[in-house]
Amino acid sequence: MKSVQIDRLADDLSRVRVLEVPLPEPGPGQVRVRMQLSPVNPSDLNAVRGDYLHAFERLIWNRGQQVLCSDPARTRPSPRPPYALGGEGLGIVDACGPGAPATLAGRRVAVIAGPPMGAWQEYTVLAAQAVLPLPDSIGDELAAMFVINPLSSYAMVHDVLAVRADTWLLQDAAGSALAKMVVRMARHSGVRTINLIRSEAHRPALEALGADVVINTESVDLRDEVARVTGGRGVDYAMDCVGGDLAGHMLQCLTLGGHMVVYGTLSNSPITLPSRDMMMPATRLSGFFAASWLALQPPARLPGILTEVARLAAQGVFDTTVDAVYPLARVHEALAASQERGRPGKVLLRIGARD
Ligand SMILES: NC(=O)c1ccc[n+]([C@@H]2O[C@H](COP(=O)([O-])OP(=O)(O)OC[C@H]3O[C@@H](n4cnc5c(N)ncnc54)[C@H](OP(=O)(O)O)[C@@H]3O)[C@@H](O)[C@H]2O)c1
Repeated sequence: MKSVQIDRLADDLSRVRVLEVPLPEPGPGQVRVRMQLSPVNPSDLNAVRGDYLHAFERLIWNRGQQVLCSDPARTRPSPRPPYALGGEGLGIVDACGPGAPATLAGRRVAVIAGPPMGAWQEYTVLAAQAVLPLPDSIGDELAAMFVINPLSSYAMVHDVLAVRADTWLLQDAAGSALAKMVVRMARHSGVRTINLIRSEAHRPALEALGADVVINTESVDLRDEVARVTGGRGVDYAMDCVGGDLAGHMLQCLTLGGHMVVYGTLSNSPITLPSRDMMMPATRLSGFFAASWLALQPPARLPGILTEVARLAAQGVFDTTVDAVYPLARVHEALAASQERGRPGKVLLRIGARD
């Protein structure tokens, strides 16, 4: 079967290969999924460059350790290449290993995958808990992107920030799929949004969604503009996935007791963070990484969260524009296309035929 893999980490796409590999067999508690469709997310590029491994290396519980783990209890080792890429997608369960629920066989499922057993393969093998059966009412494209961005945007807005009505929320990279989900959720919750873009092409879609303010940070000083639109008060919440000076300036836009969540590193630059700009307004800064957030949730809470995400999905909150679909063999073009500035939507990989 075909599998998109890297043999070692690299800052470019030169190590991404389409290989012919043996069909994997599901082990105890696992299922094998015949993959159909999968998005190219920024996190897939992180896995190519090794951003996660480099971050895990710095964590205190990995100091001096050969095997890097994403948790201090050392139950979740982080894989090193060679590994198969692809963080999520849509497929059909085609085999169940011993102890996996046989009722999953033949089900259309959203998968939470990722290296070493990624979604960009004709077949992938996962723990039975990492597949989510979906009703036919959820279309293929939304189903293929059902987990990472919907769950993360929901968790940040309603759990980490726990937004209240009649407030302001400021976010960067506002042309992203996740930021558009935040705009829709904010509108449902009575929260006004200030949306930062660097490509003017994103403005019409954001305004059509009901974004209250859109600021192009290439041409306007965001602090002047935030001061103007909030009457000098500042914003209650901020969401940053860019870093660098931009995130530092967003922090300076928070009102007294404001809260910023950091969830991405698109500029690849550390946040510029003058300590007093955080101290004087007593602001809070939180980090968000979906896998870590999920690990911190009491297991009994998860079914309720997934039900709520599914309810919002049915209302169109997580609808995502698809810009282009490439066959798996053209994965290099898909990866390059996903990084073009001003793209209106997601790039997807078509892996197998529709049933
Ligand atoms: N922490 C977590 O668990 C978690 C979970 C889900 C997503 N995320 C993060 O959420 C972010 C958005 O993901 P997505 O899938 O919604 O993205 P996406 O739809 O692929 O869109 C990416 C957006 O980022 C903008 N961008 C890229 N580099 C930038 C830079 N240096 N400065 C400013 N803007 C930049 C692009 O704008 P242009 O068109 O102008 O290039 C584009 O609008 C990513 O950082 C992703 O890693 C994190």
